[in-house]
Amino acid sequence: MMQKTSINGGFPSVRLRRLRSNPRLRDLVRETELNPRDFILPLFVKHGQNQRVPIRSMPGQDQMTVDQLPSEVDSIAKLGIPAVVLFGIPEHKDAVGSDAYDPDGIIQQAVRAIKATHTDLLVITDVCFCEFTDHGHCGIIGHQHGRTDVDNDATLGILVKEAVAQCQAGADMIAPSGMMDGMIAALRTGLDGADFAHIPIMSYAAKYASGFYGPFRDAAESTPQFGDRRTYQMDPANGAEALREVGLDVAEGADILMVKPALSYLDVIRRVKDAHPEIPLAAYNVSGEYSMVKAAAANGWIDEQRIALEILTSIKRAGADMILTYFAKDAAKWLA
Ligand code: PBG
Repeated sequence: MMQKTSINGGFPSVRLRRLRSNPRLRDLVRETELNPRDFILPLFVKHGQNQRVPIRSMPGQDQMTVDQLPSEVDSIAKLGIPAVVLFGIPEHKDAVGSDAYDPDGIIQQAVRAIKATHTDLLVITDVCFCEFTDHGHCGIIGHQHGRTDVDNDATLGILVKEAVAQCQAGADMIAPSGMMDGMIAALRTGLDGADFAHIPIMSYAAKYASGFYGPFRDAAESTPQFGDRRTYQMDPANGAEALREVGLDVAEGADILMVKPALSYLDVIRRVKDAHPEIPLAAYNVSGEYSMVKAAAANGWIDEQRIALEILTSIKRAGADMILTYFAKDAAKWLA
């Protein structure tokens, strides 16, 4: 019998295609598996009654009034999705975003409405001010050293008031996203002092000043009215700096870390996971990442289901343990 020569020049014949030859084998050797339990769905809540307003720049996503939440979270829970994160559009905005810490503010109403019907679904609240201030920045504006900018330390105080109000309404976890220095320490101390030592903090630890938030700012009506967020959010060019951000947040007591956005920052997700394998890591698959897929799919240029699942898989493969994504409901259906 004729001996076939090795394709690897004398080495035992390594053929990686052997394990790809059959779908059952591919199932056995698959390294990353998406599960609806990995997903957190962002929801936009507005004042008023009996309304669902489609968000033009985010096809498939709505702003909804509080009364819509019980049926909405019912369908979310039935799909096996464990958590939602809430963003609110208040009726009135002011310089300090007071609706954010009003016991009857839009987020507090939303948390109570969900908790009244669904005690097991996790309700995560975004702790930030950009949706609540008339200037659209993530904190109190100050005038220091001849510059107009968000006043870091003054903002810490109202962040704590906001987080405590959310916990009093029944939030299960808080997610501060304002990128103020010392934010996690201030919130941990504030929550502990208000009898909320049991509430975990998911920190938007490495959050970049990104163009990918465009559609969200339409949805949440939170575009800055002057300037931009580059004095508090990170420069997209920096990767090592993310490790300083997460290192501080870990030291200050963050329970879960987050990288945001996800798709253009897969390297950051991997670096953060490698630097802190002991801390659960979330990634935010943000509005622009969602809307790009939706737009291309609407044009017939890509296969939405295939691309969305490939993106979510890549985020998990990069090191994320959980993903905040507007695809959560569709992806849960596709995976069923
Ligand atoms: C700030 C916040 C933003 C997002 C979530 N929380 C946007 C911003 O910094 O303007 C963006 C999420 C997305 O684009 O999906 N509170």
